[in-house]
Amino acid sequence: MDSGKRLTFPLLMAVGTAVLGSLQFGYNTGVINAPQKIIEKFINETWFERYQEPITKGSLTAIWSISVSIFSVGGIFGSFSVGLFVNRFGRRNSMLMANILAFISAILMGFSKMASSWEMLIAGRFVVGLYSGLSTGFVPMYVGEVSPTALRGALGTLHQLGIVVGILIAQVFGLEAIMGNDDLWPLLLGFIVIPAVLQCILLPLCPKSPRFLLINKNEENKAKNVLKKLRGTSDVSSDMQEMKEESRQMMREKKVTIPELFRQPLYRQPLLVAVILQLSQQLSGINAIFYYSTRIFEKAGVEQPVYATIGAGVVNTAFTVVSLFVVERAGRRSLHLLGLLGMAGSAILMTIALALLEQLKWMSYLSIVAIFSFVAFFEIGPGPIPWFIVAELFSQGPRPSAMAVAGFSNWTANFIVGMTFQYVEELCGPYVFVIFTVLLLSFFVFTYFKVPETKGRTFDEISAGFRQTAASGAEKHSPEELNSLGADSQL
Ligand code: GLC
Repeated sequence: MDSGKRLTFPLLMAVGTAVLGSLQFGYNTGVINAPQKIIEKFINETWFERYQEPITKGSLTAIWSISVSIFSVGGIFGSFSVGLFVNRFGRRNSMLMANILAFISAILMGFSKMASSWEMLIAGRFVVGLYSGLSTGFVPMYVGEVSPTALRGALGTLHQLGIVVGILIAQVFGLEAIMGNDDLWPLLLGFIVIPAVLQCILLPLCPKSPRFLLINKNEENKAKNVLKKLRGTSDVSSDMQEMKEESRQMMREKKVTIPELFRQPLYRQPLLVAVILQLSQQLSGINAIFYYSTRIFEKAGVEQPVYATIGAGVVNTAFTVVSLFVVERAGRRSLHLLGLLGMAGSAILMTIALALLEQLKWMSYLSIVAIFSFVAFFEIGPGPIPWFIVAELFSQGPRPSAMAVAGFSNWTANFIVGMTFQYVEELCGPYVFVIFTVLLLSFFVFTYFKVPETKGRTFDEISAGFRQTAASGAEKHSPEELNSLGADSQL
């Protein structure tokens, strides 16, 4: 096989170990859903012990909402801090260090019941949010930098696969018969210690990012050795050549801070694309499903809502695998477009199901179909692609700052949907998904006109495309033109 497409053991091990960080993110996204009632009971009891009176409904809701959403607040801070770590400590070591946060969080959450302290639960959710925010920058960056060009999309999708598997594990473990009960819920939350230990054992055995070694550290021999292992061949001259080209370019760019990223016209177009793609992922409404699906199914008259939720988790995982196999063939742009359109169609279906529920009982089945297809289309494109495309849209110099800004946008939008969905739903009733339909269609139009294809092109070719566009008066170029700039693509 062409060495540019070879899945060597060191490459798989590096990517597999990195995405344990994605799994943590997914697990903590999904874990708080099922045991809501049980943890609320604990908060109530603790309150009673302390103040000798039952908690009011308002205070309980407030403590619960904070416990849920403080995770995204941690994510916002974590993702924004990515740049502070990766250039100083390197990609791999940054991932390793972040595990300190996972351990602290596991202790806080795992012992909150024993210590009769819901404050510890909230603090633990915040700390694991910090960890997850950092991971959403570290992991796609590291994976993008160790992968050969021809596999960058497929391996990049593994970040999302880690997330969705994490969600699914959390949904299953959260069942009452497993750990979602009065005795075991602290264990359910403290479980994050296991992937953290695994990552601490495996990461030191994984290679550092060759791009970091060569471009940031100027350690050519080390970079070459790492590449030989990752590619499983002694001829790594084309990879080295490409990195050196990027390095030369970076000498000119110098280190790009976040304010510079906003100021320089050169980065305007890729930054806009990166941020809007993050928004298209979160404002699609996906986490309305992953945070509240049980409630949505309940309202739609589904008899076993918990199992329908797990069904959504299974569909979610299955379609991420589909995307993994087609992303290098179909390309990022077309899959993202298809995903957005499919989600818009499913959201319309969902609206019909909810609106007609009173008259037609079987509409509850339609709602299941609608949600499953909503989730499936999400994973075809809008789920995995925004995460890894940012690393592709920027070269080594601006990449850390760009990841930070993109991550920040993603987590902020995640927070907004998580916090407001229930209120908006109360206001709009069955028509709540109309809002997402409108947003999805707007993102479709943006992607159609502004997002270039990055499949099969080196980092340097992609940024060369943007450089030329910026130089020749940017805005007027179509994505097709952007694709052809930067030349030599394997399209
Ligand atoms: C993406 C989103 C995350 C969401 C998940 C669902 O990774 O970033 O917020 O929960 O997909 O699969």
